[in-house]
Amino acid sequence: MRITIFGTGYVGLVTGACLADVGHDVLCVDVDADKIARLEAGEIPIFEPGLEELVTTNAAAGRLRFTTDAVSAVEFGTLQFIAVGTPPDEDGSADLQYVLAVAETIGRHMNGFKAVVDKSTVPVGTADRVRETIANVLEERGEALDFEVCSNPEFLKEGAAIEDFTHGARFVVGTDSERVRELMRECYAPYIRLQEKLMFMDVRAAELTKYAANAMLATKISFINEIANLAERLGADVEQVRRGIGSDPRIGYHFIYPGCGYGGSCFPKDVRALTRTAGEVQYQAQLLEAVEGVNHRQKQTLFEKLERAFDGDLAGRTIGLWGLAFKPNTDDMRDAPSRTLMEALWRAGARVQAYDPEAMDECRRLYGERDDLALVDSREAAVQNADALVICTEWKVFRMVDFDWLKQQLGLPVIVDGRNLYNPETVRKAGLLYFAVGRGDSLRRP
Ligand code: UDX
Repeated sequence: MRITIFGTGYVGLVTGACLADVGHDVLCVDVDADKIARLEAGEIPIFEPGLEELVTTNAAAGRLRFTTDAVSAVEFGTLQFIAVGTPPDEDGSADLQYVLAVAETIGRHMNGFKAVVDKSTVPVGTADRVRETIANVLEERGEALDFEVCSNPEFLKEGAAIEDFTHGARFVVGTDSERVRELMRECYAPYIRLQEKLMFMDVRAAELTKYAANAMLATKISFINEIANLAERLGADVEQVRRGIGSDPRIGYHFIYPGCGYGGSCFPKDVRALTRTAGEVQYQAQLLEAVEGVNHRQKQTLFEKLERAFDGDLAGRTIGLWGLAFKPNTDDMRDAPSRTLMEALWRAGARVQAYDPEAMDECRRLYGERDDLALVDSREAAVQNADALVICTEWKVFRMVDFDWLKQQLGLPVIVDGRNLYNPETVRKAGLLYFAVGRGDSLRRP
């Protein structure tokens, strides 16, 4: 099949590379000429395991091509995927200007039937706006060309996007057109050994499915974080509670790991956008507001624990920090808990000495050179002469630690662990205080 993809960001590039890999003819188009030039030279602008190889092999085979020429891109594919960004507006709603600009371009240059596929995460009702935009342009042109618009949200996790694309739980397609159903069946046929994996539904239901999925997952995280905070005050180890509730299949073990708050490009943005959408239809989404509120508070807990350990005085202290990315296997720091922590530490007059296996360039880009931030090249260097250690991301390299050695490095024997990586007993035996989430020395008996 000939497929055009607008937007070579995270979603567009993964979608394009995966579809090319199963034999489709894919043309990716972007307005950023520099990005397209780099992609043509085999340079991948983002860090995602396996993506570089997938892009280069399929580009070499001629199945995956890149262009800035929107006119030929519109002509190329019967399927026109829109995978451009929808950054949040100041009020938290998704900004649709890029999506609608692509719709306008498609309307302007289409020369025959096109099935337009909304892949970006867009508010409910966007497919209708895309349809109107194209129809208006066609009317202006005086052309009566046939087209359809459907919704096909992605459910990709950063760091596992290719696996999620190829072995995900489902492909959701929102459409009322049999012609589109047929085309999407063909597009995803290589992945769909199990027919029920391809789910057809109404357009609005598909659009809401994406937000509902992310809001549900964010809710699970905020829920367990709330229980962890309660556990700290009640003197109960939340890890035991997690296992206790996860064993009930109605609850399940997935996504109930307590931590220092969820971050990334999806959960924070999507929960806020859905709350905003609710407001627009005069509904106050109380649960979603609470999910966001709990997460906001959770991101402060690392700093609060440090403050307690240092009796409220962090001025002049050096804090060793392991992990900057919002989760392992990515260099993404959007809404990362590490940022809330670092910014609070700087306000309190402390210095940060940080190491992350992938996100240090990103950190440099965000904060520039500053006296109170040292980005060092190993976990060992991050704790050298530090007063305490904080863990923000559960990278594998942080899992095995010689705690006797660690104790010798730290000015105060304190670990604040936002990811519950260690056994509290083992840490305690080495003579370190271990402030984990809902366990270890964070527990205070009433
Ligand atoms: C998420 C969804 O998983 C994906 O389906 C959607 O399409 C985009 O958003 P992503 O943001 O890449 O993907 O990361 P994910 O692995 O889901 O983690 C999100 C955040 O939740 C991270 O900050 C992670 O540390 C946190 N988290 C996750 C927890 O704190 N506890 C958990 O049990 C799980």
